[in-house]
Amino acid sequence: MMRAPLLPLPESHVMDRRPSAAAAIAGALFLSACQTPTHRPMEIVTTPFGTTADGQQVRLFELRSASGPIARVTDYGATLVEMWAPDRSGEMADVILGFDDVRGYESDANQYFGCTTGRVANRIAEGRFELGGQTYQLAVNNGPNHLHGGGARALNRVVWDAEAAVTEEGQQVRFRYVSPNGEEGYPAALTMSVTYTLTADGDLRIDYEATSDGATPFNLTNHAYWNLAGQGAPTVLDHELRLNASRYTPVDATLIPTGAIDTVPVALDFRSARPIRDHLEGVAGTSTEGYDHNFVLDGNPDALDFAAELHDPTSGRVLSIWTTEPGIQFYSGNFLFGQRGKRGATYAHRSACCLETQHFPDSVNQPTFPSTILRPGETLRTTTLHRFSAR
Ligand code: GAL
Repeated sequence: MMRAPLLPLPESHVMDRRPSAAAAIAGALFLSACQTPTHRPMEIVTTPFGTTADGQQVRLFELRSASGPIARVTDYGATLVEMWAPDRSGEMADVILGFDDVRGYESDANQYFGCTTGRVANRIAEGRFELGGQTYQLAVNNGPNHLHGGGARALNRVVWDAEAAVTEEGQQVRFRYVSPNGEEGYPAALTMSVTYTLTADGDLRIDYEATSDGATPFNLTNHAYWNLAGQGAPTVLDHELRLNASRYTPVDATLIPTGAIDTVPVALDFRSARPIRDHLEGVAGTSTEGYDHNFVLDGNPDALDFAAELHDPTSGRVLSIWTTEPGIQFYSGNFLFGQRGKRGATYAHRSACCLETQHFPDSVNQPTFPSTILRPGETLRTTTLHRFSAR
């Protein structure tokens, strides 16, 4: 699958921050470069992305679409590294946070940027659950709780097998990983794939599939941090957000759901689009330290239905998200601390937000929530679609 090496985008074509006039010209050049690529349009270009601390070589795959958007993904953590989308004048920007190579992703500065998060995304109370009459103890890596699959063998820290293909729909990379029984303390061997497809229309679709040889909790998400003004722009609080959710799952002081499913209060009511900053004070002084809530989606739980729309009024870029999942975690980047990311960008407090489609946090300990238990003989399939536009 190795193709001709990718020529890095010339610096002048790289739009990370708010556009200037010069940037607009560069963007137009970039767009025309996209329309007349130097490599054959059907090729999926693969480049080295560095070597992990334990000596594994990691790759970066570039997915292109006829309509403009470009995605780059790596086999380290089945991670979305770059997502380029046009603004209202066609200027491209990379709208997610990340690092220039795998060493960045292995570093402490990485707060799950763009990764596949699991085996179980979000928190499990005290890292403990019972299943089939047995008690399982997982890593406690976030206060008293288990977060995002645990430690060194969480799914965002392993190298996945990769297979690139050009299909009728568009360009795609399928990542596969078999997690052995007991890895990170979870029961059963899991066989998983995460497939990124960039369609000809420029949609980024992520399809998840898994089977297991025993009952086990399972809940994957993608943890992209979005800033539609371009990664490195100072804040996401002026982005407008709309969520298809009239209910949410309240949490205790350690961010574990109480088990209730409540109607959204004013601060969490995004049923009509509004700037993220508008009611921030209503959540900033609480245990979540900003927005960090699981919303219960109102859409059809058996279909790929609308979940969220994020709009940057300055650039005009719009991201809309559809999912088959019942929930979405809206996290307003409260723990970003000014770390250095791609191409020298700085990631300030609340300079990006996550919209993580998922089953609800701590579902394995919450009998009233939709189940996250995957059983032998079942094939779990979920899909989340990201659509980019501008207005
Ligand atoms: C989010 C989670 C936050 C925080 C973040 C990573 O998914 O809801 O509480 O842990 O990941 O820093």
